[in-house]
Amino acid sequence: MRAILLHAGQFVPSLLKQHATRWVGVGLILLIMHCATAWAQNASSWVIRFSHVVAQDTPKGLAAERFKALVEQRSQGQMRVEVYPNGMLYGDHDEIQALALGAVDILAPSLSKFSRLGLTDFDVFDLPFLFDHASDVSKVTQGPVGQELLQKLQRQQWVGLGFMGNGFKHMSANKPLLEPSDYVGLKMRVQTSRVIAQQMRSLGATPVALSFSETHKALAKGIVQGTENPLSNFWTQRMHEVQSHITLTAHGYLGYAVITHQRFWNSLPKNMQDLIAQAMKEALEFGNLIAEEQNEKALKAIQASGKTQIHPLSAEQRQRLKAAVKPVYDQWTRQHGQRLLDAIRASARSRKN
Ligand code: LMR
Repeated sequence: MRAILLHAGQFVPSLLKQHATRWVGVGLILLIMHCATAWAQNASSWVIRFSHVVAQDTPKGLAAERFKALVEQRSQGQMRVEVYPNGMLYGDHDEIQALALGAVDILAPSLSKFSRLGLTDFDVFDLPFLFDHASDVSKVTQGPVGQELLQKLQRQQWVGLGFMGNGFKHMSANKPLLEPSDYVGLKMRVQTSRVIAQQMRSLGATPVALSFSETHKALAKGIVQGTENPLSNFWTQRMHEVQSHITLTAHGYLGYAVITHQRFWNSLPKNMQDLIAQAMKEALEFGNLIAEEQNEKALKAIQASGKTQIHPLSAEQRQRLKAAVKPVYDQWTRQHGQRLLDAIRASARSRKN
């Protein structure tokens, strides 16, 4: 700019030169103001670190991004959300400790992972064939049962920000799993859920609890021969590369509870707590809405890869699988009683959320 002015100064009357100098000054002021705003936005007064273990292109990953967008937009940059997907900061083994230490602020573990944290009621969601439709689950989690379970999180000094689902799990192995006898002798990767472990044992398989991030490698090395998950997790974790068969059992539901620590939550002004709670509510509704579509997309991608054969189950085969895992219910009610299970079934059958 200065070089242009010197050149122009030789031929241009001084009047024009004065105008040019003024415009340069205005330009510089605007530039400084832009930098100051940018700096202010970057130096948000609040940064919220949201860590989870799945890929961004999954219902939970996309819901986290939606939460980020809503919070930053509605707080006009006063709050910034840093999302850390794929366990890039913390995974199954250490995310809970990270939350307790204040190293992260929000987690969204699967409901299956709460029982080992002393919240044993949460593994009721792992009971196989408990739900027929994802919408039944929303009726439960959005109703009194969901509120009761969120209250229980206070025991661990957590605040429950809501529930979200990733649809139904299917089974995979390097052979078709069409009959209960097909599972016998297989080592199956599971989450750390007693109910899921009992489910696999009732099929004659051996449950092997591994973190989500270790699953692909364990399958590739033959440490385990099969696993279960919704299709969006199969696809985004490239499990179709190490599992030649997926059977569409839809035998179990994968849901999440979003939690923060009371210490973080209590540090926020009330208006920010309200903004975060509303943004999370809308983000989880969005996640629930896209879950089915995301899993459909993953099914098509797995089929197109040609690496994994997809097997639907006939009604009779599904009935035989359901009968084979029924002992899991007897074990659960012996330990927990009938109340919660009856309340969940009544809620799932009710007309509204
Ligand atoms: C798993 O560990 O299989 C799932 O909980 C991963 C997830 O969070 O969806």
